[in-house]
Amino acid sequence: MLSKSKLGDMVAAVNLVAFFLLLLLNITGARSCGVTSPFVRKPQPSVDLSLDTFPPPPGYNAPEQVHITQGDHDGRSVIVSWVTPLEPHPKFVTHWEANRKTKHKTHSMITSYKYYNYSSGYIHHATIKRLKYDTKYFYELGAGNATRRFSFSTPPKVGPDVPYTFGIIGDLGQTVDSNKTFEHYVSNSKGQAMLFVGDLSYADDHLLHDNRRWDTWGRFVEKSTAYQPWIWTAGNHEIDFAPELGETVPFKPYLHRYQVPYKASQSTSPLWYSVKRASAYIIVLSSYSAYGKYTPQYEWLKKELPKVNRAETPWLIVLLHSPWYNTNGYHYMEGESMRVTFEPWLVEHKVDVVLAGHVHSYERTKRVSNVKYNITNGLSSPVKDHSAPIYITIGDGGNIEGIANRFIEPQPSYSAYREASFGHAILEIKNRTHALFTWHRNQDNEPVAADSKWLFNRHWYPEEEDS
Ligand SMILES: [Fe+2]
Repeated sequence: MLSKSKLGDMVAAVNLVAFFLLLLLNITGARSCGVTSPFVRKPQPSVDLSLDTFPPPPGYNAPEQVHITQGDHDGRSVIVSWVTPLEPHPKFVTHWEANRKTKHKTHSMITSYKYYNYSSGYIHHATIKRLKYDTKYFYELGAGNATRRFSFSTPPKVGPDVPYTFGIIGDLGQTVDSNKTFEHYVSNSKGQAMLFVGDLSYADDHLLHDNRRWDTWGRFVEKSTAYQPWIWTAGNHEIDFAPELGETVPFKPYLHRYQVPYKASQSTSPLWYSVKRASAYIIVLSSYSAYGKYTPQYEWLKKELPKVNRAETPWLIVLLHSPWYNTNGYHYMEGESMRVTFEPWLVEHKVDVVLAGHVHSYERTKRVSNVKYNITNGLSSPVKDHSAPIYITIGDGGNIEGIANRFIEPQPSYSAYREASFGHAILEIKNRTHALFTWHRNQDNEPVAADSKWLFNRHWYPEEEDS
């Protein structure tokens, strides 16, 4: 039998061990309450759909790869872009207001490019200006039996309590999985405009950067891009820098094909710019352009953030390609130098959410920042910060490179939810204080949200959300 004092010593020793174990767990961050989804995606090969999956539309020289984006800073213009394969004519778009007869013609600027052994068709960009807010328009391209008709709706006038719903997709590509993600999004009638976080066609994953893949991608997504604006962000698969092929102009195919209204936000490059839409102020950054001190992007963002008037556009959203916070082994810390450069500004200006792609899985963080570290003070861990954005990685479009399923274990405490599946998201802005974010994995029906989160606006309602 043990004496009372020996029993006491043993209890004390056990308590001491338990204390040190708890301390260790705290130090390693293993006491996380984030969720790593138990959903296991069935492994499937990711190959691109054959080149003839999305054939050109019928008719001689029929306009194809039609896509629209916002054409000015506050939503009263639309840039319509399309390709005519054989000749430049007709080079205009005709538009009219639904239920009205008066038609208007807008001429296009035409460009084309060569990439190694590829020559593009005639790429048209036409900016339709002075549209009415919150109005449906029809537009027509082409001529004769190759005439094609589409429609779009302009956003409501910019204002603090204007509800508006965005779709969010990243790293889409053109595989069977890409098609599932895309069709899943299209089946949801809620999305009014798309926030696309980069990596479009993945043409550069093919021999000689086969630029026919840019054409097939344009035809693949036309079902949505011709009818609602896609706000474009450039990813690494847009760079197409291939000196071995004699191609030394970065972003050549992307910049010829996808025009954005960068001058309207005083940007000097289409790779970073901003637009206001309904109650949102959207800032697009370029992970693959210089952003160090004194560079054009740095100087632009420094002036841009103070311009945001939260009384007019309460929701401040940043799009970029390479995530700043992510707990996947793939591309880990590639966004770190950009984070170090810009994160203090985003926290100071209370950005609501940062959307990124690049990592081919889904992840949502808690509100954290890591802005105190100065090399010598040792404060290198992210900490809870009510002024910080939520970071969402949504590079899970389903492209040719497959899923990123190497999560870092244990799950770091700043990670709220992560899952190695393909899908898309919807951001429903309700008013100046509340927005509902939902993530939809491809295996579920559209109404099912595998992850959802009510976002509280950082300017008007900076309360803590549940994780
Ligand atoms: Fe990427």
